[in-house]
Amino acid sequence: MCGIVGYLGNREALPILIKGLKRLEYRGYDSAGIALLNHNLQVFKSHGKVADLENLIQGQNLTGSTGIAHTRWATHGEPNQVNAHPHHSQTKDLAIIHNGIIENYSSLKEELINRGHQFTSETDTEVLIHLIEDIQLNEEVDLLEAVRISLNYVVGAYAIVIIDKNQPDTLIAAKKGSPLVIGIGEDEFFIASDATPIVEYTKKVVYLDDEEVAFLQIPGELKIKTIRNKEKYPYIQQLEMQLSAIEKGGFPHFMLKEIYEQPRSIKDSMRGRLNMEKGIVTLGGIIDYEQKFINARRILIIACGTSWHAGLVGEYLWEELTRIPVEVEYASEFRYRNPVIYEDDIVIAISQSGETADTLAAIELAKSKGATIIGICNVVGSSIARATHAGSYTHAGPEIGVASTKAFTAQVTILAMMALEIARKKGSIPKNRYYQLLAELDSLPEKVQKALDVNDQILEISKVFKFANNFLYLGRGYNFPLALEGALKLKEISYIHAEGYPAAEMKHGPIALIDAHMPVVVIATKKGAYDKVISNIQEVKARKGVIIAIVTKGDMVVSKMADYVIEIPDTDEALVPIVASIPLQLLSYHIAVLRGCNVDQPRNLAKSVTVE
Ligand code: G6P
Repeated sequence: MCGIVGYLGNREALPILIKGLKRLEYRGYDSAGIALLNHNLQVFKSHGKVADLENLIQGQNLTGSTGIAHTRWATHGEPNQVNAHPHHSQTKDLAIIHNGIIENYSSLKEELINRGHQFTSETDTEVLIHLIEDIQLNEEVDLLEAVRISLNYVVGAYAIVIIDKNQPDTLIAAKKGSPLVIGIGEDEFFIASDATPIVEYTKKVVYLDDEEVAFLQIPGELKIKTIRNKEKYPYIQQLEMQLSAIEKGGFPHFMLKEIYEQPRSIKDSMRGRLNMEKGIVTLGGIIDYEQKFINARRILIIACGTSWHAGLVGEYLWEELTRIPVEVEYASEFRYRNPVIYEDDIVIAISQSGETADTLAAIELAKSKGATIIGICNVVGSSIARATHAGSYTHAGPEIGVASTKAFTAQVTILAMMALEIARKKGSIPKNRYYQLLAELDSLPEKVQKALDVNDQILEISKVFKFANNFLYLGRGYNFPLALEGALKLKEISYIHAEGYPAAEMKHGPIALIDAHMPVVVIATKKGAYDKVISNIQEVKARKGVIIAIVTKGDMVVSKMADYVIEIPDTDEALVPIVASIPLQLLSYHIAVLRGCNVDQPRNLAKSVTVE
C-alpha cells in the first residue's frame, strides 16, 4: 500500500526520491507524486506509475535537496492526479504525504470548512495538513508542536512526512499503525515506509513507534517525542538487509527470483535452529515460552491471505504433533466478532510484512484479553514483530513480488519446527516420528531444489491453459490448504478465476462446474489420503475434466489417469505443502507471464495491506 519516501541532506533529492519510489512499487499503488523544496515548494503528481511521474517531470530541471515522494493506493477518493499525494495546506506553505486512513476526517473537514478552509481533493490526507496549519497559525506554535497537537485529534492510522517551504533544513514525520523508518546518514536523513529505499545509503535506522513524532533537521538533529509530549531517545538499529536482496539478480521478475530462492530461504529459516547432530530444534525466540505452549488450552492462528494458508497447514501440523487444539482465524473476522479468548490461549500471528492492519488489530485484541502472542514474521523490526510477546523470524529475505512465495514456504517451515520443538518437550510425539520429521526438514532444501526441475515442463503446460477462464484446485489433508494457496496464486497474478477445495467436498458443489474445459489441478502425492484422492480424480475424469496432477516421483497410478503429470520428490506428508507449492507457484507464474500480466505488481493488489 501507499509508499513514503523522504530525503533531507545535501545531495540532489530528486533521483533519491524517484529511486525510492521504485523500490516501494512492490507495495502496490495507483498514483505517484513528489514535492521538492528549492525556495519554492514544487509539487508534481500523476495518475498511474512512477514512470508516468518521471515523464511528467522530464525536462523540468528540478533541483533541491529536501523532498518527499509518495505512491498512493486509493482509499478515500478515486485514483487520479488531484487525489495523489503530496497535498498542500491552505497557504500552500506545507505539503504532506500519508499512508493510512484518518477515520474522523469528515468531521474535521466540516469544522475546517466552517473556518474558511478550501479543499481540492477528496482525500482524508488533505484534511490533516489543513488541520496542522490551522493549529500552527491559530495557536502560534512551531510546526513540530502543531503536528503533535493535531495528531491528538486524529482517529485512525498514519505514517506522515511534512515538508515546510519556510524550513528547507527540516522534515517532520510521525506514525501510528502504518510503518515508517528513518535512515541516518552523514548529515543527511532518509525516510521511508520500509528499509528498501534506504539500504543503499545507510544501515543506521530508527523505526518510529506508534504515536511518535520525529523532528529531523540538518546537520544531524533527530528529535523524537510522543504525541502526548514525552521526549524519546532515538533507538538506532543496524539494518541487516543487503542491497542484492532487493534487486532482480538477472531474473525477469522478482516472483521468479523468489521462487528460485526457496532452497536457500528454507535453509536460512532453519539455520542455527535445526541441529541434526544433537537431534533437536531450538527456536531461540520462543524458548522462554515453551512451558506456556505445553500448558496452553488452545492455539489460535491469526493471519490474512497467503499467511492464513500457512496457518491452515500449521493447524494440521500442530494438532498431529502436539495434540493441542488449534483454530485458524482470518484476522479481519476475528477482530470484529467478539471471539472467546482465554488467558491460557496462545495466539500465533503470521505475517510476511509484519504490517497487515487487521492482523495487528487482532493481536491487540487478543493481548487485551491476556493471551500470549507469538509472531511469525519475515520483516525484522516490523510492527507485528514488535507487538508480539515473542516469536521467530522466517529469515526468508525481502519478498518483493506481490504474490507471496518464499515467505509461505518459510512460514510453514517455522510452524513445523516450532511444533516439533514443543511436541518433543511435551512428549506428545513418538520418537521415531520425531526423528523422521527432523530428517525430512533437513532434506527440504534439496527436495525443493529438485522440485524446481519441473520449470520447463510447467511452461509447456501453461501454454495449453493460458486462455482458461476457470481452474479448480483439489487436495486433501495437508494438501487441502495448498489447494487454496495454489488457487490464490493463480487468481492474484493471472486474473483467472480459481477455487481451491478439499477434494472430497467437490461433490457437494464444484463438481457441477466440471466439463471438458475445466482444468483441475490435483495435489495427489502418496501417503495421507492418496487412495481417496484417486477416487476424486476418477470423479473428475468421468465428467471429462482435465487433470493436472502433482504426484510423488515414480507414481504409476495417478500418472495413468491424469492428462498432465508433474512429479515432485517423495516427501513426508506433513511437509509436502512446502515441496508441492513449487510447481503451483511456477504454474501461476508462467500462465500470468503468457497472458501478459504484470506479475510483480498485479492490478489492485498491495504487498503490505496497512488499512483494514
Ligand atoms: C496481501 C498480500 C498477500 C499476503 C497478505 C497478508 O494481500 O498481497 O501476499 O499474503 O497481504 O500479508 P502479510 O504480510 O500479513 O503476510
